[in-house]
Amino acid sequence: MKAVRGTRDLLPPETALWSRIEATAREVFARYNFGEIRTPIFEETALFARGVGEETDIVSKEMYTWEDRARAQSEKTQSLTLRPENTAGVVRAYIEHKLGESGQLQKLFYIGPQFRRERPQKGRYRQFFQIGAEVIGPTHAGSESPLRDAEVLEMLASLLDALGIEGWTLKLNSVGSAADRPAYLARLREALAPVVGQMCADCQRRAETNPLRVLDCKVPEDQPIIESLPRIADSLDAASREHFAAVCAALDAAGVVYALDHRLVRGLDYYTRTTFEFTHGGLGAQNALLGGGRYDGLSEAIGGPKAPGIGFAIGQDRLVLTLQAQQQTAAERADACIAPVGEAQNAAALRLARELRRSGLRIELGDGSFRVRKSMELADKLARQIVLLGEDELASDLLTVKDFSTGVQTKIPRADLAAHLLAARSATI
Ligand code: HAM
Repeated sequence: MKAVRGTRDLLPPETALWSRIEATAREVFARYNFGEIRTPIFEETALFARGVGEETDIVSKEMYTWEDRARAQSEKTQSLTLRPENTAGVVRAYIEHKLGESGQLQKLFYIGPQFRRERPQKGRYRQFFQIGAEVIGPTHAGSESPLRDAEVLEMLASLLDALGIEGWTLKLNSVGSAADRPAYLARLREALAPVVGQMCADCQRRAETNPLRVLDCKVPEDQPIIESLPRIADSLDAASREHFAAVCAALDAAGVVYALDHRLVRGLDYYTRTTFEFTHGGLGAQNALLGGGRYDGLSEAIGGPKAPGIGFAIGQDRLVLTLQAQQQTAAERADACIAPVGEAQNAAALRLARELRRSGLRIELGDGSFRVRKSMELADKLARQIVLLGEDELASDLLTVKDFSTGVQTKIPRADLAAHLLAARSATI
């Protein structure tokens, strides 16, 4: 027998990487004063239908749902669902345990499996793992403040940096509030009416059921039409516009770089105002490392008090894929490239390369015509560090070494070079 399609076993040594990611996430969450919440893996189906939205792909096509038969007279037959995401469960727990009554913001994180019946492919599984967090509370506790949005985004940037994820992009948008959404939807419907017949089948369906999702379509032929549709930003009311401007200003002040993406509407219905995704080019088609946003009306939608909130979930499977790909590239690179500055240093460079290779290091050797000084970019692809050998270096036995990952250039005594390069190798693996 085999594991069910879309699920997989995680085995050592890969599980060590999963544990390291979880430990780093816990450490970072603790620094921002988040506490852990663990909600059940299955909930009543109605929670997701009302929370995530009947018309979303998740609820309409992807949930693992079953009728749980009554075992006793006192029990009722219930429709239950394996959680496809954790935000609805956290908000249900917030309401059930009256966490809002403390008058404080609740800052909760979770790590665990989620289930969606999607078509499996690289980075997309039917059982996958999320590391997420939610900040939720009564308005008087500051839950609507744009500073909360900025703090969550800054925490995410710090977490990805702490994990060593290189080259991520933060995409940011505002989808407006419950107050300004209807006006935008009306404009969108109106603009779609004459052109929807030329669009893909998914767009035709969404134009009826959930027009916002048309903005998400990736079909190339539909792109010119979508680009010509009205933009949400132009329909935001003054309060939503101000909120979004304040989020952007706080991110600028904190030095978190982002790209505005007016088509980022996300696939869950509970979002209001700020929405975001962190993407990574190395992931291919499923390039979202994580997604999130504000959900100021979710608590009320599932029968609770007003409790605005913001949160995110990171796809842990995708973090692992990204880190593995990075390690692979690092492992394929030589530990160092020895670069004699001129012909006169060729012989000394050969001797140094021989010495270092005998210490077990992987060395790329250039020669005086290699012109490494002029093509640092090439050396960066070949090796993690470059060792420059010029007249001064040979006379002083102090070698100039530049580490490409940090950009730091130092002078290292020749006798210490092998140990230095070996230490740099173990730090990256
Ligand atoms: P989501 O965008 O549906 O948001 O999922 C968040 C992340 O989970 C995605 O960016 C992706 O990395 C990962 N993910 C989703 N589906 C799969 C899959 N089938 N296989 C592998 N990874 C996947 C939510 O779930 C919201 N609850 C996030 C949130 C929290 N918003 C506010 N608070």
